[in-house]
Amino acid sequence: MVPDRRIKKVILGKKSIGILRIGDEFFAFDSQCPHRGADLLQANINGAGEIICPLHQYRFDLKSGQVRSGFCGELPVFQVKLSENGLFVCLP
Ligand code: FES
Repeated sequence: MVPDRRIKKVILGKKSIGILRIGDEFFAFDSQCPHRGADLLQANINGAGEIICPLHQYRFDLKSGQVRSGFCGELPVFQVKLSENGLFVCLP
């Protein structure tokens, strides 16, 4: 349902969320870059667990949302939980 290392878009309420699977691990994050709002559904993922914005190449840690390269706020990330009933995304 979520191909490895491919970002899927999910709409939850008014929020657009990116869902990503790397191996057995799932990540969920705001689909808009906190810098200038670029669409992170078009982002690349590197081998260090970072998502790279396609517009200015700022890098964000997928687990914490922390900015690894660039000058802006953190990327909102959301806890995910996989169960036999599906994948749950915990929104604030
Ligand atoms: S819009 Fe994402 S780094 Fe500038």
